[in-house]
Amino acid sequence: MLKNDIGSAAAVLRQAKRVVVLTGAGISAESGVPTFRGEHGLWRQFRAEDLATPEAFARDPKLVWEWYDWRRGIIAGVAPNPGHVTLAAWEKRFPEFALITQNVDGLHARAGSTNLAELHGNIWKVRCTKDDTISDDHSVPLKEIPPRCPDCGALLRPHIVWFGESLDSDVLGRAFALSAACEVMLVIGTSALVHPAASLPYRAAASGAKIIEINPTPTLLTGEADISLQGKAGEILPEIERLLAVK
Ligand code: APR
Repeated sequence: MLKNDIGSAAAVLRQAKRVVVLTGAGISAESGVPTFRGEHGLWRQFRAEDLATPEAFARDPKLVWEWYDWRRGIIAGVAPNPGHVTLAAWEKRFPEFALITQNVDGLHARAGSTNLAELHGNIWKVRCTKDDTISDDHSVPLKEIPPRCPDCGALLRPHIVWFGESLDSDVLGRAFALSAACEVMLVIGTSALVHPAASLPYRAAASGAKIIEINPTPTLLTGEADISLQGKAGEILPEIERLLAVK
């Protein structure tokens, strides 16, 4: 059993060539983006089934878009934190590095991450409900609510995976392949409750990868992790980087 300390995590990473990271809402918490669960989480204030489902959108697209417009406004006003920045820098530190995120806030890309799989979509992309054309929309606030496709006039929807919907099979297939091939997987800022994302660490472990969890509170995964670092990602990741930078 490895010790649950930053030095042990750095020692494992120092030996690794293929590193994969899975992030959840917690890595954006220190930027000021609300998480979903936990005491101040979005699902404490709102009912997910009223907002993040196809049925909710069919019933009241205006309400659903008002909620996403509010979230877009929050995200537009924040910046990536040292956790995002460290992960972006690790694309150069490790021979093979990939980042899989459940987050839709776009902060990993803004921090400079490029080898990135966005499992649940992206809040800055919209999708035509008639022909599934995806386009970028960074307007804050939205020009009209609900927004309509400029080409065909059909409703646009957020390009986000809602509860009850399946993930993009190519993105998911890549995420599982990356998990199966890595030597180390860091699981950062996720309650590890929502599948299929929550299955990725088990897929990695089944292939012999070491699992390092970074989270202030224990999760369903903590007992399975080789190293569990209980703290904030924005503090722990730069500390690991400082140890790795020392030759
Ligand atoms: N650093 C690291 N982890 C943190 C921090 C922090 N500073 N602050 C909070 N956390 C942890 C919490 O302890 C919690 O375990 O982040 C986790 C956030 O969990 P959730 O709010 O459940 O978010 P997430 O796991 O990403 O949710 C998965 O559920 O609602 C759906 O599609 C949505 O992608 C989302 C999915």
